[in-house]
Amino acid sequence: MAAAAYQFFDLKPPPADMLREVLHGLTSEPKTIAPKYFYDERGSALFEAITRLPEYYLTRTELRLFDRCLGEVRDAIGAGGCVVEYGAGSSLKIRRLLEAVRPEAYLPVDISQRHLERTAAALHADFPWLKVYPTCADLTEPLELPDVVAGFHKIGFYPGSSIGNFEPHEARCFLGNVAVSLGAGAHLLIGVDRKKERAVLEAAYNDAAGVTSEFNLNVLNHLNDELNADFNPGAFRHKAYYNERHGCIQMFLESVEDQTVRLNGAAIELARGETIHTENSYKYDLEEFKALAAAGGFTCTAAWTDPDEYFALFLLQVE
Ligand code: AVJ
Repeated sequence: MAAAAYQFFDLKPPPADMLREVLHGLTSEPKTIAPKYFYDERGSALFEAITRLPEYYLTRTELRLFDRCLGEVRDAIGAGGCVVEYGAGSSLKIRRLLEAVRPEAYLPVDISQRHLERTAAALHADFPWLKVYPTCADLTEPLELPDVVAGFHKIGFYPGSSIGNFEPHEARCFLGNVAVSLGAGAHLLIGVDRKKERAVLEAAYNDAAGVTSEFNLNVLNHLNDELNADFNPGAFRHKAYYNERHGCIQMFLESVEDQTVRLNGAAIELARGETIHTENSYKYDLEEFKALAAAGGFTCTAAWTDPDEYFALFLLQVE
């Protein structure tokens, strides 16, 4: 029997995992919420708005690099390939990739089921020649690809410098997992934000319109909806700065008063001025990233960067 042209795969963790993980983070010292929880419906929309901000050079720069790499990517993948996208993000990028590369199948992996199914269904409608296999899963866990794509030459796609959300040792582990799940000889096209002047970095995460602040605060609404919590986003303030020693942007929500928040029956105390750490966004030098990729089992086939040296795209191959 021929494989269906559209099929949804549900590999997402049960909600009990989210409650346990969030409670663990909020009872740790310092308090943390993992950045994957930014992306509910509104969070995904706010992130899209961020990608269009004048200060947020990442998306714009990556899109320009795209035009230069697509030919080489097409040649690398050949006929009958499958694009595996980690995080169903900006549909603009994937559309350009699919048009240029014309793979046989497309398998987007994302934790947010509604967002995933909506973008996958739209792509299925617009690219009738393409098999579309949306897979709901947590990217931070090892992933075994559904059997329908066994036998396809894989090309992983991980744009936007999303790799920056992992700690470097986790990024190495993630890349190792990706190498295993894509298989020997597979390719990975990955976008990475480069180390640069503090002022440029900090402006990108402290935009004048306040969209990044709204995005950061919205994680609290998400926890209210999903975990029966009673956060008041108005009692927190967005903070973001570049930690040069660690090479990452760090984002926090700072409590503006002493407060007690309830989360599914648990009480969480916050002192005025206390912060919840919500995101690290690591920046990499070219050689630093190539070494990380090598440690994950990849060799670098090609790299592209912009004249300002803000951003880099790498075409990697599993050894
Ligand atoms: C999606 C992780 C690449 O770090 O730039 C944007 C998320 N956070 N503004 C980034 C984000 C605040 C973004 N990544």
